[in-house]
Amino acid sequence: MTNTNRKILVTAALPYANGPLHLGHMVEFIQCDIWVRFQKLLGHNCYFVCGDDAHGTPIMLRAKKLGITPEQLSTETYQNHVKDLQEFNIAFDNFHTTHSAENQTLANEIYERLLKRGDITKRIIRQAYDPIQNMFLPDRYVKGECPKCGTKDQYGDSCEACGATYTPIALKNPISVISGATPIEKESEHYFFCLDHYEKFLKDWTHQGHLQSEVSKKLDEWFKMGLEQWDISRDGPYFGFKIPNTSDKYFYVWLDAPIGYMASFKNLCNKHASLSFEEYWNKDSQTELYHFIGKDIVYFHALFWPALLTGSDFRTPNSIFVHGFLTVNGQKMSKSRGTFINARTYLDHLNPEYLRYYFANKLNNSIEDIDFQTDDFIARINSDLVGKLVNIASRCAGFITKQFNGFLANSLLEKELYQEFVAAGETIKIHYEEREYNRAVREIMRLADLANRYIDDKKPWVLAKSPDQQDPLWNACSVGLNLFRVLMIYLKPILPVLAKEVEDFLNTKLAWEERKKPLLQHAIQPFKPLLQRIEPKEVLAMSEASKENLTETVEPSIKSSPLTEDPLRETISIEDFAKIDLRIAKIINAEPVADAHKLLKLTLDIGGDTRQVFAGIKEAYEPETLIGKLTVMVANLAPRKMRFGVSEGMVLAAGPGGQHLWLLEPHDGAQPGMRVK
Ligand code: MSP
Ligand code: ZN
Repeated sequence: MTNTNRKILVTAALPYANGPLHLGHMVEFIQCDIWVRFQKLLGHNCYFVCGDDAHGTPIMLRAKKLGITPEQLSTETYQNHVKDLQEFNIAFDNFHTTHSAENQTLANEIYERLLKRGDITKRIIRQAYDPIQNMFLPDRYVKGECPKCGTKDQYGDSCEACGATYTPIALKNPISVISGATPIEKESEHYFFCLDHYEKFLKDWTHQGHLQSEVSKKLDEWFKMGLEQWDISRDGPYFGFKIPNTSDKYFYVWLDAPIGYMASFKNLCNKHASLSFEEYWNKDSQTELYHFIGKDIVYFHALFWPALLTGSDFRTPNSIFVHGFLTVNGQKMSKSRGTFINARTYLDHLNPEYLRYYFANKLNNSIEDIDFQTDDFIARINSDLVGKLVNIASRCAGFITKQFNGFLANSLLEKELYQEFVAAGETIKIHYEEREYNRAVREIMRLADLANRYIDDKKPWVLAKSPDQQDPLWNACSVGLNLFRVLMIYLKPILPVLAKEVEDFLNTKLAWEERKKPLLQHAIQPFKPLLQRIEPKEVLAMSEASKENLTETVEPSIKSSPLTEDPLRETISIEDFAKIDLRIAKIINAEPVADAHKLLKLTLDIGGDTRQVFAGIKEAYEPETLIGKLTVMVANLAPRKMRFGVSEGMVLAAGPGGQHLWLLEPHDGAQPGMRVK
């Protein structure tokens, strides 16, 4: 791109509002945020919008399980998402939600336009239906035996054992995952988008440079299989928007989800009169539009979305930037290994700048998976950021403050070295633009090595000892700090918080073009340590806390079935039950556990004996309110050593977890120590 001042709109995929953000999500947000910050650093008009994807069956069912409305659940999740994203410094211009007035208006408008063009067709389909819950069941909500090989406990869409695909009603002995009832078959009229009308358009569009080549190839396979009409409706009850002129049909979540990009931008325009929705979305728009997404949602973004946009007379994206999946220590994120790390758990233990740098150091523009390798993470941060980068400043700044009144030298010797740093910006710029962040980082660290070598050669700490070496000392330290400044300009999109601190320290704004002019005769502030080394124990604590989350959260996706995984469905003998020593316990003390955001430390009196128990109820209770209350505990559970101490039992609580937990409390008259039977 050669235009000097581009107008760019960037989106990150809208996270589902049915669960917390995890480090997999953060790959995308960080990738996208770096790109946006880079564009802004160059002075372009770049807007970054996103929001929650609030609709659909999983969120509806999850809310039901929690005993709240889907609106309440999505509001609660929204607040948590926003908080996490802010703390990772993801600088959205707007973070909205698909459950919004703007989105409903736009979804209706797009639908009406497609309808008018003859792109919507209706037909009756047969579907599995839960006669107890009175609702149609999506494929993943039906389980049973594979009709082909007989393997038990398979989802309604495909068999994990033999790979057969089928419809839920073909399963043998099917059950509804929601109620356990045997589903019946029921007919219902559905609305379809005629994707096949867009075959020619899509075949062209997917080969016009809008996609990475690996992605275009994948799409070719889909074209070979033929484009089918897309079912865009769902029957009520459904959390979503009602389709205009129907009584109980709703837009399928994936219809209004990408429209959420437009809605978020529209909402931004409503707040800023100078910003024009039409300028960015009209068919003849001259602005640029980019969507960052993960490889699992390519079908929706590279086929349905451009077709929907074209069909409804809106512009299509310039590019869809697809990234791979995050693995942790070489494997899929796993809850039991403590590698399914929530954004919040990371934030509780580590500096977000570290993760931003680590991901940048790994990211390129391919769809390969990227690995979060914990040892490598510690090594990269400690050696690159602390050992190389910050070290440059810390080796020079003290002398400037102490011996030169805080002023940098009047002229810069070492012009060549400085010029090399400035010139490298042209390559680094291209790497950023092409999302080859790993290359940008490599180049920046190569320069950091050069800067350190320069300081090693000049040895300011030796010069400082000779009164006749004041000028060389002044020069060396001024060169060192000027090189540091250029590096920080380059790293600003990746490390925004560090960059801000360096701006304060150097008393200057870090701007891209400014790097060409060194800071001379310029007063700086006294140097303060900028970054701490990571201690391996901090990373360990994060994995431990991720394991801890495991027992306390509701199953996050529809992939686990509440029924089949419910231990209550397997019977135990009365003897088994008799082994459990349940006692009435009086809570004589309750206090938060530092470093464990879900745990309270309870001291329990069970009639002459006291026990210490760590309970995952911190989000549900203020500790003071519990003191003096009676509850029920398992008194003969084997003691368990935790990071914070030994837990000598367990208290009983009902509910799915988080804020939604209720401790059991006996009726009046029960006394501490009484056996519960
Ligand atoms: N709600 C849809 C997107 C709608 S966009 C109109 C969705 N949500 S999601 O929460 O499941 O994922 C949001 C984004 O995070 C997607 O781009 C997805 O690919 C990405 N990731 C989710 N897990 C991921 C990893 N483990 N690794 C990298 N990215 C991952 O899909
Ligand atoms: Zn099978």
